[in-house]
Amino acid sequence: MMQLRTSCERLKVDIEALAKYTSTPGSGVTRLSFTEEHRLANEYIIKQMADAGLEVFVNSAGTVVGRREGTDPELPVVMMGSHIDTVKHGGAFDGTAGVVAAIEAARVMHRSGFKNRHPIEVVAMTEEEGTRFNDGMLSSEAMAGLITNKALDDLKDDCGITLRKAMQDFGIKPDLDRAKRSDIKAFVELHIEQGPMLEAKGTDIGIVENIAGISVYKVTVVGKSGHAGTTPMHLRSDALLAAAHIITATNDVVNKIGKGSVATVGRIGALPGVSNVISNFVQFSIDIRASKQEYLDEVINAIKAEARIIENKFKVAVSFENPSNGKPVKLSTRIGELIEESAAELGYSYIRMDSGAAHDSMAMAEIADTGMIFVPCKGGISHNSDEWTDYESLQKGAEVLLSVVERLSCLSGA
Ligand code: GLV
Ligand code: MN
Ligand code: MN
Repeated sequence: MMQLRTSCERLKVDIEALAKYTSTPGSGVTRLSFTEEHRLANEYIIKQMADAGLEVFVNSAGTVVGRREGTDPELPVVMMGSHIDTVKHGGAFDGTAGVVAAIEAARVMHRSGFKNRHPIEVVAMTEEEGTRFNDGMLSSEAMAGLITNKALDDLKDDCGITLRKAMQDFGIKPDLDRAKRSDIKAFVELHIEQGPMLEAKGTDIGIVENIAGISVYKVTVVGKSGHAGTTPMHLRSDALLAAAHIITATNDVVNKIGKGSVATVGRIGALPGVSNVISNFVQFSIDIRASKQEYLDEVINAIKAEARIIENKFKVAVSFENPSNGKPVKLSTRIGELIEESAAELGYSYIRMDSGAAHDSMAMAEIADTGMIFVPCKGGISHNSDEWTDYESLQKGAEVLLSVVERLSCLSGA
């Protein structure tokens, strides 16, 4: 067994410290972007980055960046990290594990006096989940130039607060356009698998080859409100009833199409939202994932066809908006090979696999050679307060991350 360079104990301390910055203590980690919990987490991260010898700044999209200068500062950057925001009542590892592992890798380089030719940057991204503003991957999309300043006023949270206002209140002068980067050579993200495969096979490391595409739709159903006691059943145009049928149809359609595609309705709201009034306005989300764009298209087209039938049957109006789209992404073969070499040298078992979950790496792959290292998570549970990864498993991933980033930062060529 090779001598490990990262510290399991330090990874544990960081994960446990960051898990405390939640708005739902005792009920999972809830750390929405540009909130007090996010501020406290950033303060902790900034301190750890500075102690690891990194020069820290917060960019104009609210991303914390710690830079380790290269012996040739003009060379493009090798970046590592993940996101620090969470879903509501989520776990302590989704995103955070990748931030903490990247900081630990930087600590090891600092302590050993590692000489990197390329500058290395560690990032703590935010609003990857889209929990607050319903549009994920804010940090990475800004870096990749996939989101512009228009979003600052277009995106609003559930209280109607714009992204611009939330960022200003957080102390950032928002400018998504200015956060765009064109000097990144490679991006490496460690993440928990969020699925059961690695644990079931007893494998240490997942080398991600493809990330499934994701299309998010907002469906609006407009009917007519009326008295719950006096409106005969055949005279109703009940928006909530129609929505329920579309949701059921969504499930049926995806099961029929198969091909590994999945669809989820995770959010719904009905107005006027009163027990004795028929609903006249319902909005809900549909999150569709598939390994190919044509499968995503097939699923939504079939759902829309069913919705047209339901619209007529229930005398309502149904419309679809498509606020967020991430096409399926193939990650870098070269970085996949470096992950494999590093895992093999460290004596870790590994498999190649695809990711059903979305990641910042999808956006980063637009501008940089991008690779992902998966580590097992218990029972495959994620987006849940029971999410768990053993620290020894996380440390193996951190060792691989360290080795891959060291190699990338010394290689020549952009
Ligand atoms: C992010 O975690 C996603 O896959 O939605
Ligand atoms: Mn997530
Ligand atoms: Mn994540």
